Amino acid sequence: VRVSIVVIGSLSTDFIVQASRMPEKGETILGTDFKTAFGGKGANQAVAAARLGSEVSFIGAVGGDSFGDKLKNNLRDNDIFCENMETFADSNSGTAHITIYDNDNSIIVVPGTNGMVTPTMINNKTDVILNADYVVIQNEIPLDTTKYIIDFCFENQVKLIYNPAPFVEIEIEYLEKCYMITPNEIESRELFKEDIETVIRKYPNKLIVTLGEKGAVYFDGEKEVRVPAVLTNPVDTTGAGDTFNGALAAFLNKGYSLRTAVEAGNKASSIAIKKIGAQTGIPTLEEWEKADV
Ligand code: RIB
Ligand code: NA
Repeated sequence: VRVSIVVIGSLSTDFIVQASRMPEKGETILGTDFKTAFGGKGANQAVAAARLGSEVSFIGAVGGDSFGDKLKNNLRDNDIFCENMETFADSNSGTAHITIYDNDNSIIVVPGTNGMVTPTMINNKTDVILNADYVVIQNEIPLDTTKYIIDFCFENQVKLIYNPAPFVEIEIEYLEKCYMITPNEIESRELFKEDIETVIRKYPNKLIVTLGEKGAVYFDGEKEVRVPAVLTNPVDTTGAGDTFNGALAAFLNKGYSLRTAVEAGNKASSIAIKKIGAQTGIPTLEEWEKADV
């Protein structure tokens, strides 16, 4: 099957509790609500791209636990091709343990089978990667695999969008081999060790820095382009960056300009954060068109 976007990355079950504040070290407090939801940065990005109209194939791994099938079925329910996924029967699927308080969150990620997405596994799936218009990756699979994918896409001139989240130290030469890099402000500073205004000038139309409620910024070769966020009252910002990245890939793949794709990503994430759960609020193209946020 020819697909336009290949997302390689994590999928997880998110265990979400809400509390009025974070517990101190050694402290137990009462929470107010508990939910499970589908998450994992890779899956969230794949779902965003698929709901916004792209043909998406996912490369990742689940375990033989009760969560594995559900995670995979959720991708299928979102019309994502799962033929290139692996199941490791004796291992646990990825989980994320999320506390939401005061419209913000803290997350502990336990990789499980997301940690088993190795270069060897990818090496068996290079056909689908070579045929993709865009490949999208994040940092919830092993760093060796990320580097392998970056080298492979660079050598074969496949357009790779690298969302370096959560932050992992990686040499700048790898970042430079990517078609596009989409860190947030903190990740950008940690990766490049330079302030945003300076570093975006070095990577025109390639380094897109997301700024949370301030939107996103990049340099277009002549000037700095600031794309403001669509203001909204967030309920759960988990996965906001993922929605942005999935939407960015989808709109670039439809042939829109970078500026329009960044605007589309901002709008999609503003819609998504109005519901609890990383994927719950991600809009379909129709919902995206209708929303004035
Ligand atoms: O980016 C949000 C995601 O990060 C959540 O869905 C959770 O799985 C964590 O990995
Ligand atoms: Na949400």
